[in-house]
Amino acid sequence: MQIRVVSDQPWSVPADVLAVPVLAEDPGPADAAVLAELDRRMGGTIAEYRRLGEVAPKPYHSALLRGREMAPGWVLAIGAGEVGAFDRLVAYRLAAAIERRLAGLHVSRLAIWLPSTLAAAGDAGSMSATDLAMLVTRGVVEGEYDPALIYRAGSDEAPPHLDELVLVVPGADVAPLQAAAERGAVIGEGARIARDLANRASNDVSPEVLADAATDLAKAHGLSIDVIGPERATEMGMGMFMAVGRGSDNPPRLIVLRNGADGARDARGRLLALVGKGVTFDSGGISIKPADRMEEMKMDKTGACTVIAAIVTAKRLAPDLPLLALAPAVENMPGPHSTRPGDIVKALNGKVVEVQNTDAEGRLILGDALTYAERLGATHLVDAATLTGAVERAFGKQVTGAFGTPQDWYDTVVAAGARQGERYWQIPLVDDYVRDMESWYADFQNSGPADGSLVKSGLFLREFVTRPWVHLDIAGTAYMRRATAWAPRGATGTAHATMVELALEGVTGA
Ligand code: BES
Ligand code: MN
Ligand code: ZN
Repeated sequence: MQIRVVSDQPWSVPADVLAVPVLAEDPGPADAAVLAELDRRMGGTIAEYRRLGEVAPKPYHSALLRGREMAPGWVLAIGAGEVGAFDRLVAYRLAAAIERRLAGLHVSRLAIWLPSTLAAAGDAGSMSATDLAMLVTRGVVEGEYDPALIYRAGSDEAPPHLDELVLVVPGADVAPLQAAAERGAVIGEGARIARDLANRASNDVSPEVLADAATDLAKAHGLSIDVIGPERATEMGMGMFMAVGRGSDNPPRLIVLRNGADGARDARGRLLALVGKGVTFDSGGISIKPADRMEEMKMDKTGACTVIAAIVTAKRLAPDLPLLALAPAVENMPGPHSTRPGDIVKALNGKVVEVQNTDAEGRLILGDALTYAERLGATHLVDAATLTGAVERAFGKQVTGAFGTPQDWYDTVVAAGARQGERYWQIPLVDDYVRDMESWYADFQNSGPADGSLVKSGLFLREFVTRPWVHLDIAGTAYMRRATAWAPRGATGTAHATMVELALEGVTGA
């Protein structure tokens, strides 16, 4: 897809469809003049439809009108809500909703008018026009994604594959907006990689297949890759990682992607490691899950898919940036060789762990991966994992639960996420709960009484890090059970943009 930012007036831009955001309030005078001229050329239909309510500011409500006396063939009026509520998340969603509204239509050139009121008001004034261009482009690119096409050939109802996206910003200095838009497109493409991998079925994506996919991506983008199989993992002492995959015929793989030489650091002196939970299917193991919604556990590999995609995206945007991505991939199944409740294993960092519940498997594989990331020289760590049902019960599907230490590293990660419109809420690492995980036979166990189980999941992981670390529990936000105006059902790509934004901080000094 070609991306073009133009400073022309929207009526003069050749396109199949021109999207026009509709705000609840009157826009500023410059935007009002543009809107009045569009309406005049259309014989007053925009204003008429608005009076009728067919054109409305309700977020993502849309109406398709015939363009007249203008270059675009059609005008898509789309609700953008109240100016005061317009933030980065709404900007992204609005763009994805525009693209998805065109599903099934024969559209190859889409233009989107970005009123100056939006850029000025967004996130209560903190969002610049370049931020808006980046987020809108990211949204359109992600809006093209359709999981219905993974296992079936072309559909008549898919969002169109655009040849060209034109951002129309009258009077703008286009060069910085063009660069930001192109960056947004690359981030959107990365999210599509993450979403596509995550949505694939467990009989399709085993740990080995995930490692093969990572290998192909590494080759295509010039990343180093090391895939650690069961023999080496055992030899190295990754007892927690190895405990989880034992019940499955599909052997585990620890996928390690790297950019930059050994010992290299980014411009802030960091070597950031992105670590993602890659349970290709989580049956619970011997502590087996109930049948209800067990099919959703194919999504338990989403963290791994996210970090694999994120290091590719970062490489495309900053080819020389040192970065690590680790994706421990396993299938958690019951069977004659499975780890049993009560089994004792030794972690890579030497700690002895009692597996009290085989369904608390994510923390076992992540613990060893975090230790290994530090051994590879990581100075700062961020992990993403569909770790607990508790996080969804607490925050639902719209907010990711996050833990971290020290606080300034937590704040850095969450601020990077906020710049991409991703929402986090902090969960405290309260030391008092550590005693609930005490074990008679081991240093501690992998779960405990259900109260505060969300906090305890973070406390467990903390046992395996010694450097600044943040844990993102994406169990609620990783996938949706229903389609929305801006996204199909399935993987959302959550945390990908946060990780890329964070990594890119390393391009410039602090
Ligand atoms: N993969 C699950 C968490 C999950 C649940 C993700 C629902 C997405 C939707 C995880 O491995 C798990 O089973 N966690 C247990 C932990 C418990 C045994 C301490 C849970 O949340 O019940
Ligand atoms: Mn589990
Ligand atoms: Zn799991």
